[in-house]
Amino acid sequence: MGSGRNVAVFGAYGHTGRFVVAELRERGYVPLLLGRDQGKLTALAQAQPGLETWQASADDPAALDRALKGADAVINTAGPFASTAGPLVEAALRAGIPYVDVAAEIEANVDTFAHFAERAGAAGIAVVPAMAFYGGLGDLLVTTAMGDWTAADEVHVAYGLSSWHPTAGTLASGTVSSQRRGGRRVRYSGGQLQYHDDALPTLEWPFPAPLGPQSVIGEFSMADVVTVPSHLAVPEVRTYMTAKAAADLFAPDPSAPTAVDERGRSEQTFVVDVLVRSGDTERRVAAAGQDIYAISAPLAVEAVDRILTGRTRTTGVASAGAIFDAPDFLRALSAHLTVHLPLDMRG
Ligand SMILES: NC(=O)c1ccc[n+]([C@@H]2O[C@H](COP(=O)([O-])OP(=O)(O)OC[C@H]3O[C@@H](n4cnc5c(N)ncnc54)[C@H](OP(=O)(O)O)[C@@H]3O)[C@@H](O)[C@H]2O)c1
Repeated sequence: MGSGRNVAVFGAYGHTGRFVVAELRERGYVPLLLGRDQGKLTALAQAQPGLETWQASADDPAALDRALKGADAVINTAGPFASTAGPLVEAALRAGIPYVDVAAEIEANVDTFAHFAERAGAAGIAVVPAMAFYGGLGDLLVTTAMGDWTAADEVHVAYGLSSWHPTAGTLASGTVSSQRRGGRRVRYSGGQLQYHDDALPTLEWPFPAPLGPQSVIGEFSMADVVTVPSHLAVPEVRTYMTAKAAADLFAPDPSAPTAVDERGRSEQTFVVDVLVRSGDTERRVAAAGQDIYAISAPLAVEAVDRILTGRTRTTGVASAGAIFDAPDFLRALSAHLTVHLPLDMRG
C-alpha cells in the first residue's frame, strides 16, 4: 500500500488524470491535484474531499516547484505532452523526485529520452515516459515475450480495440504529433524511426480467441516504436490497429468515451497481441482488458509504487520494460488485465 505518501498528478482533472487519482487513493497514496485551471481543480477537489489542489502552468517553473514541494513522485497526465513533458521533467529533477507520464506522442517520448537521459541518470532519478496503455503495456508484453532474448529480428504489437472513442486530449495530441512530423507518417524499421508518405496497408491479424482474426491497419505507429527499441536490440517494431478502431478515431466527428460501470470505464475492450521473432522462432504474449484510458491508471500507479519501493532495475530515463521486472509487473495487474503467458511458443 502507498503508506500515505504524496503523489502529484499534473492534469488531475482530465479524463485519464481522474482514473489516476482514483487508483492512487485505492492504493493508499495521497494524490496532490495539479493542473493549470484552478476552477477545474476546485471542482475535482469538491468531489474528492480532503485533497490539496495546486494551480500551476507548465510554463511557470516557480509554480511547479511550489506544487511539487512535499510530493514523493509526480505523474503527468496532461497532454499534448509536447508542451508539458519537458517542463514537468525539469521540475521533477529540481525536486529530486521520480517522474512518470502517460504520453503517447512519439515525438514527446523521443524528446524525453534525448533531453533528459544524461541528467536523470546522473541524478539517479527515475523518469518513465509512456507508462500507460500505449508504450508501457506493449513494452512490458514485448519484454515478457522476449524472455531470455536480448535481441530479436522483429517485434509486432497488434491492438485489437473493439472501438475507440477518443478524449479531447487524445485528439489534440494526435494533431500536435502530426504537425511536429510535418504531416508525415512514421515507422520503426532498419533500426530507426523513418518518416514517410506511404499509404498504410490493411491486413488481417490473427488475434487469439475469442477475438480471432481482425482487419487491421499496418504501421499504425504507437509509442511502442520508442519504448521497445530504447532497451531491446530489434531492428523492426511494427504496430497494428483494428481497422474499426482506426475508423472511429479518424471519424469526422468522433465521440468521447462514456462510462458504463461504477469505475467510470467505457464498454471498450482491448486485446494487445505481441509477437517477437528471432530466426524461425516466434514467441507470443497477449493481454486483454477493458478501456484503454482506465487501464493506464493502474499501469502508471504500479510504476510509481515500484519506484518508491525500490523495485527497479535501472534509473534515469527508462521505459517500463527496462526499469521493471516485466512479467512480475504484469502479474501485479491481474485485477485489471488478463495476460496469456505465453499463447504460443515455438522453437
Ligand atoms: N499512452 C496512453 O496509452 C495514454 C492513455 C491515456 C491518455 N494518454 C494521453 O494523455 C493525455 C491526456 O488524455 P486525457 O484522456 O486525460 O485527455 P483529456 O480528458 O482531454 O485531459 C487533458 C488534460 O490535459 C490538460 N492539459 C492539456 N494541455 C495542457 C497544458 N499545456 N498545460 C497544462 N495542462 C494541460 C488538460 O487541462 P485543461 O482542461 O486545463 O486544458 C486536461 O487536464 C493525452 O495526450 C492522451 O493521448 C495516453
